[in-house]
Amino acid sequence: VVPARHAAANPLRQPRLAPRSAAPAGRRSLVTKAVKVADHTEARQYIDTRHHAHIHNHREYEEMYKRSIEDPNDFWREIAMSNFHWETPIPEQHHSHNFDVKKGPISTEWFKGGRTNIAYNCLDRHVKEGHGAQPCFLFEGNDPGRDGVVTYEEVLKEVCRVSNWLWSVGVKKGDSVAIYMPMVCELPIAMLACARIGAVHSVVFGGFSSDALASRIEDCKARVLITCNAVKRGTKSIVLKKIADQGCDIAKQQGFTVEHCLVYANEDATSKEATNMVAGRDIFWQDAIPKQADEAEVEWMDSEDTLFFLYTSGSTGKPKGVVHTTGGFMVYAATTCKYTFAMQPGDVYWCTADCGWITGHSYLAYGPLLNRATQVVFEGVPTHPDAGRCWQVVEKYQVKQFYTAPTAIRSLMRSGEEWVRKHDRSSLRVLGSVGEPINPEAWRWYHEVVGEGRCPIVDTWWQTETAGHMITNLPAAWPEKPGSASLPFFGVKPVIVDEKGNELEGECEGYLCIKQSWPSNIRTVYGDHERYETTYFAAFPGYYFSGDGARRDKDGYYWITGRVDDVINVSGHRIGTAEVESALVAHPQCAEAAVVGYEHPVKGQGIWAYVTLLEGVEYDDKLKKELVMSVREQIGAFAAPDVIHWAPGMPKTRSGKIMRRVLRKIAAFEEDQLGDTSTLADPGVVQQLLELRGK
Ligand code: WTA
Repeated sequence: VVPARHAAANPLRQPRLAPRSAAPAGRRSLVTKAVKVADHTEARQYIDTRHHAHIHNHREYEEMYKRSIEDPNDFWREIAMSNFHWETPIPEQHHSHNFDVKKGPISTEWFKGGRTNIAYNCLDRHVKEGHGAQPCFLFEGNDPGRDGVVTYEEVLKEVCRVSNWLWSVGVKKGDSVAIYMPMVCELPIAMLACARIGAVHSVVFGGFSSDALASRIEDCKARVLITCNAVKRGTKSIVLKKIADQGCDIAKQQGFTVEHCLVYANEDATSKEATNMVAGRDIFWQDAIPKQADEAEVEWMDSEDTLFFLYTSGSTGKPKGVVHTTGGFMVYAATTCKYTFAMQPGDVYWCTADCGWITGHSYLAYGPLLNRATQVVFEGVPTHPDAGRCWQVVEKYQVKQFYTAPTAIRSLMRSGEEWVRKHDRSSLRVLGSVGEPINPEAWRWYHEVVGEGRCPIVDTWWQTETAGHMITNLPAAWPEKPGSASLPFFGVKPVIVDEKGNELEGECEGYLCIKQSWPSNIRTVYGDHERYETTYFAAFPGYYFSGDGARRDKDGYYWITGRVDDVINVSGHRIGTAEVESALVAHPQCAEAAVVGYEHPVKGQGIWAYVTLLEGVEYDDKLKKELVMSVREQIGAFAAPDVIHWAPGMPKTRSGKIMRRVLRKIAAFEEDQLGDTSTLADPGVVQQLLELRGK
């Protein structure tokens, strides 16, 4: 190839924030702006896109949507049977679910009894149908000029070789394999190789630290790790292998041994010779893989066999291993990809997400391949070597669908329009947004400057747990409102409930829940079904609770108002405040920490950390740096606090609970709206914190 704590103290049993009034500061104001300036962008104007879309207008959508909700069993079976290969056909009755904790254990099954393989559907199927010579990946390296093309047939062969290697080291169906790699084509290839033999992949984002890698390896018991020696991101070189080695060492100290480590040599970043290799454990991809046969057996999987684990942050405790299964994930990722991006086979598509996050799973490694797209795999960052890189790549490959996060748009917006206008973007047809609410200013810039008003914007709301788009507009099918994800996808029944769990009708605001199962809803939390039930189903019995707040307007459009729990969304990365707090408290001089999100002009939300030091320790700048370092080491650079706010005292209630509402208001410079502070054990703390802000 070319180059916890949960059961007893369930935080959700009593949702702690009243919608609107107490939503996290940063989030709420973004959305408030959206409401004020909302306008309609008529769907009629998108002439080019409409020719290619699968749904042409609201009426077509409504008919199909109605059927998907009324008869999900048949609706999805028909799609699954007609668009995918099943080695054993799906039985007529294949679906069941229980979302109500009062009726017994939470469970979901889709296409049960049908046997398939997602890697076969991504690759073999297309090659057998004569499309082997179609480009599959267009690789674009960190530095311009480092690039290359691989066809579907070549990817299939490489996947088979990696599958054979996995077999040769004893990996069997159901075993976990950890993958810790940068965005080179070998990352999705490694995922597909696992899927082909029924191994469960657990991809760990390359920006995570050795501690974070170790805890994920241990949790899912991955005896095999696939990694890379190093990577260049912009002008920086990161020696990934060193972090991987440390991760393996940490796991070993805890009693878990990684037995085999396959190391892709990314010669652009560092040489093989300069790479530390552990004898008996490590082998280079380039030495091991070319020796393997380029054909491999396919493991036919029951639809409900596990496909992957992906760890994600929640309100409390350590990250959860979200479990997704084979058939439901395959059908839902592919179908959303097709409709949301108006995707046709052969389209050149580019998703800038990393495979370490769910977006890279559903809309890079799997969805586009299931639709036989040709896709750009980009190793670098949008601002290297300059702020025109994305548009230069769009022009170079004639990209039709471009999918990115609002944070990237906001950062490019700051560099100015000239970087965009320098490059021809006439190939673009659909622009996608994911990961956080898109503020109308960024929406307009994306729409008018990048898309020249020709391209609909699909604002896709979804989550690691949902594995696919849940609320999104379909291109050119109905008018857009900047800042609203608009209407639910087929098979998705969103509801907005109040704090008691009553469904609200019409125009309303409250907690966003989903009423019935869809093919790729989270099946469980790996190794902790009880935590799964508590986190997602206990707060509002009968519903899947998303953790987000939402508003529904008079046209039935949904506006996501942001998380109502202690999760913050930094540059589209989901971070639990509890994780950052525990990384801070791990510093020997830190007595207590409380972390909140605040509105950040580029990242969406930034991390604001209040820190109390041990008695007698002096508050100084050196310590601030050490505290930030502690978070970088334990989680990763992307979770580093933006602000450390010294807090000799925290605003606590008499029972000792930190009043986060007060901390959010101080971070938002909204101290005039602190609300009732009379229940604080020591109301003087607030004044002290205000004095220390910025110090
Ligand atoms: C937020 C990323 C508003 C939301 C796919 C959700 C969004 C969390 C949007 C999931 C959007 C994602 N508009 N908010 N279009 N997309 N979110 O698991 O708060 O990394 O709960 O999945 O991101 O983040 P996750």
